[in-house]
Amino acid sequence: GILFNNEDEKEDTSFEKNICRFFMGLFLIFHVFRAEQKFADHMKEKNEASSEFAKKKTLLEQRQYLPIFAVRQQLLNIIRDNNIVIVVGETGSGKTTQLTQYLHEDGYTSYGMVGCTQPRRVAAMSVAKRVSEEMNSNLGEEVGYAIRFEDCTSEKTVIKYMTDGILLRESLRESDLDHYSAVIMDEAHERSLNTDVLFGLLQEVVSRRSDLKLIVTSATMDSDKFAGFFGNVPIFNIPGRTFPVDILFSKVPQEDYVEAAVKQALQIHLSGMMGDILIFMPGQEDIEVRRFFTSLLQPQCNMRLEDLENAPPLAVLPIYSQLPSDLQAKIFQKAPDGVRKCIVATNIAETSLTVDGIMFVVDAGYCKLKVFNPRIGMDALQVYPISQANANQRAGRAGRTGPGQCYRLYTQSAFKNEMLTTTIPEIQRTNLANVVLLLKSLGVQDLLLFHFMDPPPEDNMLNSMYQLWILGALDNTGALTPTGRLMVEFPLDPALSKMLIVSCDMGCSADILIIVSMLSVPSIFYRPKVPSVHCSDQVREKFSVPESDHLTYLNVYLQWKNNNYSSIWCNDHFIHTKAMRKVREVRAQLKDIMVQQKINLVSCGSDWDVIRKCICAAYFHQAAKLKGIGEYVNVRTGMPCHLHPTSALFGMGYTPDYIIYHELVMTTKEYMQCVTAVDGEWLAELGPMFYSIKHAGKSRQVSNILPEYHTQHIQCAFVTLDHKTSHKGQFL
Ligand code: CDP
Ligand code: MG
Repeated sequence: GILFNNEDEKEDTSFEKNICRFFMGLFLIFHVFRAEQKFADHMKEKNEASSEFAKKKTLLEQRQYLPIFAVRQQLLNIIRDNNIVIVVGETGSGKTTQLTQYLHEDGYTSYGMVGCTQPRRVAAMSVAKRVSEEMNSNLGEEVGYAIRFEDCTSEKTVIKYMTDGILLRESLRESDLDHYSAVIMDEAHERSLNTDVLFGLLQEVVSRRSDLKLIVTSATMDSDKFAGFFGNVPIFNIPGRTFPVDILFSKVPQEDYVEAAVKQALQIHLSGMMGDILIFMPGQEDIEVRRFFTSLLQPQCNMRLEDLENAPPLAVLPIYSQLPSDLQAKIFQKAPDGVRKCIVATNIAETSLTVDGIMFVVDAGYCKLKVFNPRIGMDALQVYPISQANANQRAGRAGRTGPGQCYRLYTQSAFKNEMLTTTIPEIQRTNLANVVLLLKSLGVQDLLLFHFMDPPPEDNMLNSMYQLWILGALDNTGALTPTGRLMVEFPLDPALSKMLIVSCDMGCSADILIIVSMLSVPSIFYRPKVPSVHCSDQVREKFSVPESDHLTYLNVYLQWKNNNYSSIWCNDHFIHTKAMRKVREVRAQLKDIMVQQKINLVSCGSDWDVIRKCICAAYFHQAAKLKGIGEYVNVRTGMPCHLHPTSALFGMGYTPDYIIYHELVMTTKEYMQCVTAVDGEWLAELGPMFYSIKHAGKSRQVSNILPEYHTQHIQCAFVTLDHKTSHKGQFL
């Protein structure tokens, strides 16, 4: 049509314009609704009808149909003969679900577990579930998974799926990974930060342990680099079973990719061609079905009413990492006859999750990446164009079941000239503070000499070391301090660990523990649009502690506790029960670590100023100063930053001179998320490397005690707080 260089251009005339758009949207929603009903009924019937035996049989058949099954014995032979093997196979060939089982069947689990790492939590959970079904066992028994703050394994577990971060932490406790007989590092092509660090560590482990098998899997063909890194180890290719995919580029750049994607999906849907649709969107906000519905109602979808009336139902199924797992499972279920599935995904569906039956891919051409932003001095998740390698992976999703089509919502010239060939590995673009902490505690002296496949830029490394130095985790020589050593014990960002550690001496560890747990779980509050967001906001105000979002969180938790951790109470107060339960679990786990590390739990009772000071002790480097009414600027950089409308401090008529923030979120503006009012003097006391207090005219000198390599950072970072009066309390 208008968008694509495809040959059926004439067909476009069949789409008349301006026909009762509103009704059209309604019809679609009706269809979608009907589809979902039908879908649910179908699943119910199917589950009731199919006996356990029939289910088992089909699962076995499915396993034997996978491309990897044809080379099972060859694979096992090459693994037996080599300690490290690179396995390459198209997405969907069976690497993730089958390799672990083959190793189990071949006896490797008789003397250790088979571990399989995933860069994404969702993949670890959903694959473990699938494999436990294939092995006809309960999830958490023979087959289990572990992700941060959630361990679903038991004594019985022989196949363990986990995030790469979990294995990395396990290597701290047990540097030779003695519990494992084999480790599969899955999705290596993703080059996640933790995978890259594991590469270096595991290579050493294998050289010490001749009985450990290391298998590195990749969905892309550029595996020579992996093989070379591990010392020219063999590469095993799983012969694929793929069908040709027609690639169609947009003729003109698209302004709104959601709009363009919806339009394209509808064109496919109404064309009469068979097969499911997979749409790639950059992030969750674009996917949430709500936004899709809104788009459907917008006037740009110039379809003929009759077309929609006669159109078969369409089931729109979202998938992104934060989606509750029961909803995630939907994408794997087969749609009933006559219903077309339209999956709207983030790049999670690029290689991590395989969905069968996709014939059409619609690719918006963007993904979200975590990139260190020097302007704000921290990582920011932002939307970037994908790489050519991503684009080709995405297109490949359409050719698994039969010949397919991929609609790229960007021009051929953008593909050729504006996209990188491959994405820059995470290790080269993000903050490395946690990695530095971990490697230091593993005894790696000179990080710049660590065996990285692609070493991070020296600046990144130094900047991360600097951040750890200001938190007191590294000393002037760059060695780990006792505080740093303690920080490694917590599966948290360095500043959060620091907050927990100092809280004990400040007499508020029990309170800080709750706050840290609350900060480790996304979205506690929900703001339903019905009856209106104001309803939930009003209830939320009841919890507000005017000087602090952190204390507001503490308040919520304490009230929930006072109400016997009730879910009804949560519902009444627009709070996610599931999230709160998670907070409680996280709290229990962090508490265990504190007990192990002999950090006493003490509460400060009602003296909450102590808590604010404790938060300041870990976040003084993220401070902002009042500039105008409701306007703040970063104290160190002068960059404007704004209170988020959901903040307890927002619009309360109370604007403290100094605040610290938990993180910056960049949307239309730079927003500070989760802020707490602090005393200006605390900043000078706790962050003397940045701040000093200017006494009328003469300024108190702070000696420069910085490691040499950081003097240049400090020069620009050092600022003086205007000292209005010498009396404490006047700052606020
Ligand atoms: O790892 P790779 O991409 O090579 O394939 P896989 O993830 O092992 O997927 C093999 C098959 O298992 C595919 O046909 C998937 O559709 C199926 N699968 C599933 O049905 N449910 C899951 N949660 C995971 C995989
Ligand atoms: Mg896989």
